Amino acid sequence: MKDVRWLIAAVCLGVLIILAGCGAAPGPEQQAAPSSEGAAPASVAKTVSFAADVKPILDKHCANCHLGGVSKGGYNLDTHENAIASGRNGARIVPGNSAGSNLVLRVAHDPSVKKMPPKGEALSADEVATLKAWIDQGANWE
Ligand code: HEC
Repeated sequence: MKDVRWLIAAVCLGVLIILAGCGAAPGPEQQAAPSSEGAAPASVAKTVSFAADVKPILDKHCANCHLGGVSKGGYNLDTHENAIASGRNGARIVPGNSAGSNLVLRVAHDPSVKKMPPKGEALSADEVATLKAWIDQGANWE
């Protein structure tokens, strides 16, 4: 009788070890799942340069109204100080926080604000992503 109890105890222990082993070693299909996250089409992984990446976008889409001394709506993008200054509608550019930046909401055509540019060609998804990444990386002016 004592031998049988030992046998049952040994089998139970064996089952526990097998179950624990399965939990610790996920199959290949479980490991592969998270990698698809970074595949969003408009994501910008690299460090954005103001001069090389951002300024050309502003020159192309915003120059007529916010550059070269022009300040439509009281907003001027000629200097860093002016660009990040707060406006009537709150912070236009919040370094480190693209989601809280009025400028991003506008170029991304968020329904809560008037879109920018007001008419004509909208920014491409890549251009919007570049501006977002630039602001999230600190909105440097070099
Ligand atoms: C055709 C002229 C025109 C162009 C081009 C234009 N804007 Fe504007 N922008 C305005 C006017 C007018 C206002 C003020 C009215 C308003 O708030 O919508 C304004 C307001 C803004 C504001 C809000 C300012 C505040 O006080 O909060 C931001 C931010 C802005 N523009 C960013 C941009 C950006 C970035 C671009 C280029 C992608 C751009 N605009 C292109 C005319 C323009």
